[in-house]
Amino acid sequence: MKKKVLVTGATGFTGGHLAEELKARNYEVIALSLPNQDKTKLEKLGINVVIGDLTKKDTLLKAVEGVDTVYHIAAIFREQDVPHQLFFDVNVGGTKNLLEVARDAGVRRFVHCSTVGVQGEIKNPPAVETDPYGPGDYYQQSKVEGEQLALQFFKENEMEGVVFRPVGIYGPGDTRFLKIFKFVHNGKFRMIGNGEVLYHLTFVKDLVRGIILCGEKPEAAGELFTLGGNEYVTLNEYIKALAEVLEVPVPKKRVPLFPVWVAAVACEALCYPLRVKPPLYRRRLDFFTKDRAFDISKAKRLLGYKPQVPLKEGLKITAEWYKENNYL
Ligand SMILES: NC(=O)c1ccc[n+]([C@@H]2O[C@H](COP(=O)([O-])OP(=O)(O)OC[C@H]3O[C@@H](n4cnc5c(N)ncnc54)[C@H](OP(=O)(O)O)[C@@H]3O)[C@@H](O)[C@H]2O)c1
Repeated sequence: MKKKVLVTGATGFTGGHLAEELKARNYEVIALSLPNQDKTKLEKLGINVVIGDLTKKDTLLKAVEGVDTVYHIAAIFREQDVPHQLFFDVNVGGTKNLLEVARDAGVRRFVHCSTVGVQGEIKNPPAVETDPYGPGDYYQQSKVEGEQLALQFFKENEMEGVVFRPVGIYGPGDTRFLKIFKFVHNGKFRMIGNGEVLYHLTFVKDLVRGIILCGEKPEAAGELFTLGGNEYVTLNEYIKALAEVLEVPVPKKRVPLFPVWVAAVACEALCYPLRVKPPLYRRRLDFFTKDRAFDISKAKRLLGYKPQVPLKEGLKITAEWYKENNYL
């Protein structure tokens, strides 16, 4: 008999890829979806869609019936202009609801998606799983609380649980990284600062293979893994690779960090009292100033995790998808 698995967030980017791969591997896949989402792609793949909302526990009961493994990918992450509280309601309260209904329904394994963002700025790259928490914003704080809650719940309920933390996820279907592709493509990209900070990404299809190992491998139970690509690069190397893939000249223009930082402080000082979102703010500069590099050797050792897509190849596949879908 086919093993039944539940994927939350399957109408989103990562969850969508995961549900598709699980289906291709002959699992019976149930997808949790909020109402009013387009489910045609999932249904065409033969995935059974159950309508539910993580913040409403009763709506989750049907989704976990007879399920062996839950892959909890859904989160409030990209949403803007929603109250900060919603991040906690979904990423913490929603996780609690799902854990409870999963336990009560006898789910064997629960795989929880966190983020490397829970570690915030990395002081001594590459970071390992046991390095301290250091969330830098309310999204990351909600993910810290979500993963801590899951880890505690697994212990208290003797549930087979796994937490994984992805680095930045890119690939077909994502639009978060589109902005930088566009800036490099149209020659408007300017490096702020020296570009020597470290940057770590994972190609979505590699990540999905790692997530499934978290669901399948006995050795994964009770563990926490960072999942990322094989390579991390400096921002300069990343932008160069992107320009080569897009077949445009490598951007050479640079802006010193200090004046931009001063401008960000001024924007924040002017806008926040008026309750207006500043066009430039210090956290936006994090991309140019903070190291994000992670050690994935634990996942390689315990799970046999092996990312297969080199950065440049992944960028090429992503650029092609953007072009085919008229984003670029
Ligand atoms: N993308 C990255 O670079 C990155 C990096 C590290 C970690 N992560 C983590 O990876 C996971 C997936 O990220 P993603 O980029 O694939 O995000 P995404 O495309 O925004 O997908 C999030 C999914 O969560 C669903 N969702 C939100 N609120 C819900 C609720 N109340 N009830 C049920 N479902 C709800 C969304 O439903 P709708 O489709 O209806 O909106 C969507 O399907 C998240 O847990 C995120 O924190 C992402």
